[in-house]
Amino acid sequence: MGLTPVLTEHWDVPGYWTVDTYRSLGGYQTLPKALAQAPDEIIATMKESGLRGRGGAGFPTGLKWSFVPQGDGNPHYLVVNADESEPGACKDIPLMLANPQALIEGIAITCYAIRSNHAFIYIRGEVPQVIRRMAEAVRQAYAAGYLGKDILGSGFDCEVVVHAGAGAYICGEETALLDSLEGRRGQPRLKPPFPAVAGLYASPTVVNNVETISNVPYIIGNGADWFREFGTEKSPGFKLFAVSGHVNNPGIYEAPLGITMRELLEYAGGMRNDHQLKFWLPGGSSVPMLTTEHLDLPMTYEDIAAAGSMLGTGTPMLFDETTSVVRAITGWLDFYKHESCGKCTPCREGTYWINEVLHRFQAGTGTADELDLLQELCAQILGRSFCALGDAAATPYPAAMKYFSDEFVAGTHTPADELFDPVAATVFTPAEAR
Ligand SMILES: Cc1cc2nc3c(=O)[nH]c(=O)nc-3n(C[C@H](O)[C@H](O)[C@H](O)COP(=O)(O)O)c2cc1C
Ligand code: SF4
Repeated sequence: MGLTPVLTEHWDVPGYWTVDTYRSLGGYQTLPKALAQAPDEIIATMKESGLRGRGGAGFPTGLKWSFVPQGDGNPHYLVVNADESEPGACKDIPLMLANPQALIEGIAITCYAIRSNHAFIYIRGEVPQVIRRMAEAVRQAYAAGYLGKDILGSGFDCEVVVHAGAGAYICGEETALLDSLEGRRGQPRLKPPFPAVAGLYASPTVVNNVETISNVPYIIGNGADWFREFGTEKSPGFKLFAVSGHVNNPGIYEAPLGITMRELLEYAGGMRNDHQLKFWLPGGSSVPMLTTEHLDLPMTYEDIAAAGSMLGTGTPMLFDETTSVVRAITGWLDFYKHESCGKCTPCREGTYWINEVLHRFQAGTGTADELDLLQELCAQILGRSFCALGDAAATPYPAAMKYFSDEFVAGTHTPADELFDPVAATVFTPAEAR
């Protein structure tokens, strides 16, 4: 299956992030057409396109927009989730660096469709260069009349605020993000009410991922049928697949949904020299691992789910035979334990204990009983936590046990570092890492 550069088509063009260059290559042609339509027509096109949110859950975007009540007299908000912090996910940050004007054009169209005059772009705080780039791109869009008051003489106003987070993974969860944006400690809210009904400042709010909104000008400009020419019935369109790990050419490959991991791996130059694929994760550390037997699965929401995993953010991480599975998932649990916001007991206590016990297996001091204890701890968290971070933390161990239980048994007598040399497994050699 071939690549389909749409969002990435002009990434190599110097200065593509500026209004002038974006416009000279066809940008900002959809906005005036959109403003000439009725807002409901735009929502209808988005629904027909079948675009599914690219932030991880894959919720249909047009449907989400249609939940925003109309004529309620409240302000409406659009919040772009640019908090990308999932281990392995690296697509929104490069997208904002290379093509921020598509996001801005998408924001103006989306705000018009959901009857909102205010949008926020919530960017993770650790990427100051992206925050600066986005702020300057927004400034240029204001100066050119694509944002602000009376856009292109249409009478429609759209104000955009670029907001920097402070480095918490949980603030990517949409309701924690809203609390953080309101100036509070970022912790998830109870749902319902969903943000589309009561979100930012208790007003109807659409929260969408950067890649989701960046697709909007292309879909509204080319039509729903054009978008549906790519992908499958249930997973239409194309996607930024950010391939990372032990591959020769890690990077972002924009391809139709339905491409296989084997094909993506070929684009990524195969596994690094003379090494074999051991396991891979389709979309960040929060989804269950798969193995070589799954390489020919179409990368769609439905096919990956049928195989017991999730497409997630569509950012596959691949690991070769030098990798200790025990060490890898212990590292992820270090992350989840650290990032658990502490609001609910199963996740706050559970991530701590899973992590403690996993470290024993990594050190070669686990016990046979603790193999079951880990299963029980994960079962106590899964489906019992307040938000999906808890579920994500409970996912790696059961999935790893399905395919690599021998490594955990070995963890009852031999340290992981003796079985798998950590230096051999690093992506960068120590010299490169410096
Ligand atoms: C712990 C956690 C972190 C998340 N981080 C992000 C993130 O960085 N970016 C994102 O778009 N969605 C993230 N999500 C998903 C959001 O809650 C939400 O589903 C998404 O922003 C909706 O946008 P979409 O419909 O366009 O996918 C996260 C969810 C959880 C539970
Ligand atoms: S599951 Fe974890 S991150 Fe989510 S609310 Fe509970 S403690 Fe916080």
